Amino acid sequence: MIEDLTKTYETPFYCYDQKIIQGKIDFLKSLNLNFNYSLYFSVKANPNLAIINFFKQNNIGATVVSSGELFKAIRAGINPSNIVINGSSKNEFDLKYAITQKINCINIENIQEIDLIESYSKEKNLKTNFGVRINPGIDAQTIDKISTGKTGDKFGIEIEQIDFEKLAKLNYSNLKALSIHIGSQITNYNKLIESYIALIDLANNLKNKGFEIETLNFGGGFSIPEEGYKSLDFKMWAEELNKIMKNNNYKIIFEPGRFLVAESGSLVTKVNYIKKSGSKNIALLDSSFSEYIRPAFYNINPMVEVLKNNSQNKIKYDLAGGVCETSDFFLRDVELPILEVGEFLIFKNVGAYGSSMSSTYNSRPRPLEILFKNNDHRVIRSKDTLEDLCNNEIM
Ligand SMILES: Cc1ncc(COP(=O)(O)O)c(C=O)c1O
Repeated sequence: MIEDLTKTYETPFYCYDQKIIQGKIDFLKSLNLNFNYSLYFSVKANPNLAIINFFKQNNIGATVVSSGELFKAIRAGINPSNIVINGSSKNEFDLKYAITQKINCINIENIQEIDLIESYSKEKNLKTNFGVRINPGIDAQTIDKISTGKTGDKFGIEIEQIDFEKLAKLNYSNLKALSIHIGSQITNYNKLIESYIALIDLANNLKNKGFEIETLNFGGGFSIPEEGYKSLDFKMWAEELNKIMKNNNYKIIFEPGRFLVAESGSLVTKVNYIKKSGSKNIALLDSSFSEYIRPAFYNINPMVEVLKNNSQNKIKYDLAGGVCETSDFFLRDVELPILEVGEFLIFKNVGAYGSSMSSTYNSRPRPLEILFKNNDHRVIRSKDTLEDLCNNEIM
C-alpha cells in the first residue's frame, strides 16, 4: 500500500493502517479483565478527527488535556459524558469549557483548581464531576522526560496535601474519581500495578471514612516495541490487575494513547541528497524534526525501512532532516542498503506523538495524513498550504 501511496502523494506524509488500530482495540478488549472498566483514548497521542472518530465507533471515550483537544473530541463525535480532562496547568477557559460541556470528569492536578470549578459551576447552576490526580511518588522507570509520577514532578498532587473533607463538602462540585498516570512507554508492568494499588488503597481508606469514590482512573502508559524498549507483558499485567481488583467494585478507566495508535503509523520520506562529511555518510531527507521531533527531543531511535532497494551492500548512514538545526537528525550510524537520491524511507511505529507533536518550524507545512485499510485509503488531513502558514498573522 505504502508504495502505491508514494506514487500519488508527495512526501513527507504520515499514513495509518486502520487494521492495526482495530487489532490494538480488540487485543485490549480480549484480556479478560474481570471488573467494570472503560477505555478512553488519550487524544494527545493523535488528535486527528478521523482517528478520534474511529475510537468513537468502537465505543471508546476520550481523555483530553486542553480545551482544543476537548473541542476536537466533541467535533469527532464523542459524547461529553465519555470525556475526561487532565492537565497540569489548565487555563481558566479549559475549565470553564469543560464545565459547560458537562464532561464525565475534570481531574484536578492543583488544589486551587477547585475554587474556579466550584464558583463557575455555581454561576451556571451546574453540578460538576471532578477527580483528583495523585502524585504517588513512583518512578515508572521510563524515559525521564515522560515520567510523571515521581516526587518533584509537576503532575498530580501529593496525598498529604489534599483536604478530602473540604473537597467532599462542596455544593456544586462532586468528588467522583481518583486518578493516576505515572508516565508513558512503561515496560515494567509492576510499576503500573504499584500505582494502581496506591490508588485503590487511597480509595478504600476514603471509603472507610465515609467518602464515596465511584471511579478510579488508572491512566495510560503501556509501552510499544521501539529500539531499546520492549512491549508490556500484558498477560502478567492482566493477571495481577485481576488479583488486585478482586474485592473492589470501582469503575475503572484506562487512558491509553501510544499503545492504540503508535504501531499503525508510518512517516514516509524521501532522500533529497547524500553527502560525505569527514567519515560520515549523511542522507538528507525531505522530512525533519518539524514533522517528527521524538528522535531529537527524547533521543529515541526510530525504526526505519527502505521502501524498495535491491542493493546487497550495506553501509552506515546518519539520517538528517532539512531544518536549520544541528540536532535535526533521525538516526546516526544506522546500517542501510546503499541509498540513492529519490529513494523512499519509512519511519515505523510513529502513529503516536508523531503528527501530534509536529510543528511548522522553519515555516514548513504540516504534512498530509492518510488512513488506509487493505487497498482503500483516504486523506484525513491535507498538507498545509503556503497560505495556511500565514493564517492569523497580520502585517
Ligand atoms: C493523564 C494521561 N493519561 C494518559 C496518557 C497517555 O499516555 P500513553 O500514550 O503513554 O498511553 C497521558 C500521556 O502522557 C496522560 O498524561
